[in-house]
Amino acid sequence: MALLLLQIGPAGTMFSLVVLMILGCLSQEAWSCTCGPRHPQSVFCDSPVVFRGKFIGQKDCAEREHWTEFEVKATKIIKAPKEFDDIQFVYSPKMESLCGYQHPSSNKSEEFLVAGSIVDEKVYINSCSFVVPWATLTLGQKRGFLQVYAKHCDCQVKQCFSVPCAVDSPLQCLWTDPLMRRKSLYASHQATTWACVNKGDNMCIWNSLKSRTYANSNATAQ
Ligand SMILES: *[C@@H]1O[C@H](CO)[C@@H](O)[C@H](O)[C@H]1NC(C)=O
Ligand SMILES: *[C@@H]1O[C@H](CO)[C@@H](O)[C@H](O)[C@H]1NC(C)=O
Repeated sequence: MALLLLQIGPAGTMFSLVVLMILGCLSQEAWSCTCGPRHPQSVFCDSPVVFRGKFIGQKDCAEREHWTEFEVKATKIIKAPKEFDDIQFVYSPKMESLCGYQHPSSNKSEEFLVAGSIVDEKVYINSCSFVVPWATLTLGQKRGFLQVYAKHCDCQVKQCFSVPCAVDSPLQCLWTDPLMRRKSLYASHQATTWACVNKGDNMCIWNSLKSRTYANSNATAQ
């Protein structure tokens, strides 16, 4: 297995980006793992697969050495290519040093929001993936994942790590939470209560996920 590890520290930030490219084990294609804070809307829009589900088992992947196969029960597939009408397995590198995902709970009834990528027609996650207990998401984030973010993937959340920073296009909203150097960016203000929405005229602006526009709609964000 060929392994290439690059560590890139963007100038002036405390965050680093780890890019892992693992060749050989899984497929001949490069597979990458990128760590860093991301707004939940970016997580949603950039992930080919997003679902709510339970982790009901795990074992070493039989056909691929050094990989773990997680058995899952998808309770709601929120986003996936249409051939993924059910998701029963999710794969990850086994070793933590290779960005392997370690599931934190043995509770098979606990629901998680899982955002994954697709390699070789399989759903892949790693330790940088957004895999979060559903119960810990705020109401705004649940509403975002279930109904709002999907409609506004033409808008981009631009991360602001240091001042000055500015949007490059009217389709961007500036995510300034990272400036605060908070520990949990997912729990920060703009990540929990705002979505970057297209208001028409190709202009995106922050809008509250608590707003009445969404509160009256049908989806159950419980
Ligand atoms: C497991 O998760 C379910 C659903 O979140 C919860 O109701 C239950 O209390 C949990 N059980 C344990 C043992 O923590
Ligand atoms: C809610 O959903 C039901 C069934 O999908 C639909 O018939 C109804 O019109 C919807 N109500 C609103 C307010 O969107």
